[in-house]
Amino acid sequence: MAIAKRLTRVLAGEQVWPPPIWLMRQAGRYLPEYRAIRAKAGDFLALATNPELAAEVTLQPVRRFGMDAAIIFSDILLLPWALGQGLVYAAGEGPQLPPIRDRGGVEALDPSMLPGRIAPVQESLRLVKRQLDQEALICFAGAPFTVACYMVEGGGSKDFTATRSMAHGDPALFDALIATVEAATLEFLSAQIEAGADVAMLFDSWAGILSPRLFQRYVTDPAMRLVAALRVRHPGTPLIGFPRLAGTMIGGYATQTGVDAVAMDTACDPAVVRALVPESVALQGNLDPLALLAGGESMRGEAAGLLVAMRGRAFVFNLGHGIVQQTPPEHVAQLVAQVRAA
Ligand code: CP3
Repeated sequence: MAIAKRLTRVLAGEQVWPPPIWLMRQAGRYLPEYRAIRAKAGDFLALATNPELAAEVTLQPVRRFGMDAAIIFSDILLLPWALGQGLVYAAGEGPQLPPIRDRGGVEALDPSMLPGRIAPVQESLRLVKRQLDQEALICFAGAPFTVACYMVEGGGSKDFTATRSMAHGDPALFDALIATVEAATLEFLSAQIEAGADVAMLFDSWAGILSPRLFQRYVTDPAMRLVAALRVRHPGTPLIGFPRLAGTMIGGYATQTGVDAVAMDTACDPAVVRALVPESVALQGNLDPLALLAGGESMRGEAAGLLVAMRGRAFVFNLGHGIVQQTPPEHVAQLVAQVRAA
């Protein structure tokens, strides 16, 4: 029998100390070896859909820092692309999609394209899996609301006004979009688990921009349905939910969705979250990525405080959001050493 991996032990509720560590966006432009492969691949989409290169960049941070998990190199916006929505990552401008603003836009989405377009991600997972030993392999998808934000807006935004206006002004249309994305997300995650992922994570990066009523309808309820469906298909696969900026709603999200762990964003007070989230749900997070960027005493102090706050709890050390591009890789190595010495 294989020895249980440190990450999956925590997700099963065990207090493992020192805690396992991995970092959101641990593969990316702050690493020179990533930039070299990225230049070779051409654009981001070409890299994410090239299994050999995607597997290589997935493994880079695991090799360099000895992380406890690899997160597959992919993107939440591969899902709209796999449904036939256009997608380009314009250099320096972030992702751009043709915005969906009406019924015709939702009806044009084509779930029959999905299996073919996500096949390269499955192949990347198989390639990575073969090269891992005690590290867990994490797959992910955007949660339906966050993915819908990019689909409606046509890219990133400060406040996703068009999306929130649709949710309030034409709920039937927004429900139809969420339902389409939710069904596709179930297939996307299921396919990745079948390809060998040990853990699945749902990124709801924009969960915190909704009112409590719409948070229930478009964040908690879809996550609850996805968790229930994944439990039936893949009973042994732990699930992590990341309802970013949910504030105190993180408590209801954790209990109602049935996830094995919730990821805390940077704004979460770990002591408050400990009180809101039942002991049976593990916690992950939440060092400020800018403390990691700064390094030195401010990083050490913040990380030490987090370790103290999470002692005696099933806990996975991570950031509160993705690594920023300017982060010196040495700071990551120092952080891993500090966590290992906890
Ligand atoms: O290492 C990892 O964590 C795995 C890879 C990963 C990427 N995107 C690769 C990526 C993960 C987990 C994501 C998730 C993702 N993508 C989210 C949810 C998490 C979050 O940050 O809130 C969101 C909202 C996206 C959408 C997205 N993808 C944006 C807004 C951008 C452009 C901004 C940016 O950072 O450039 C991307 C592109 C992207 N996804 C890059 C990477 C490494 C940069 C692409 C490049 O190399 O040029």
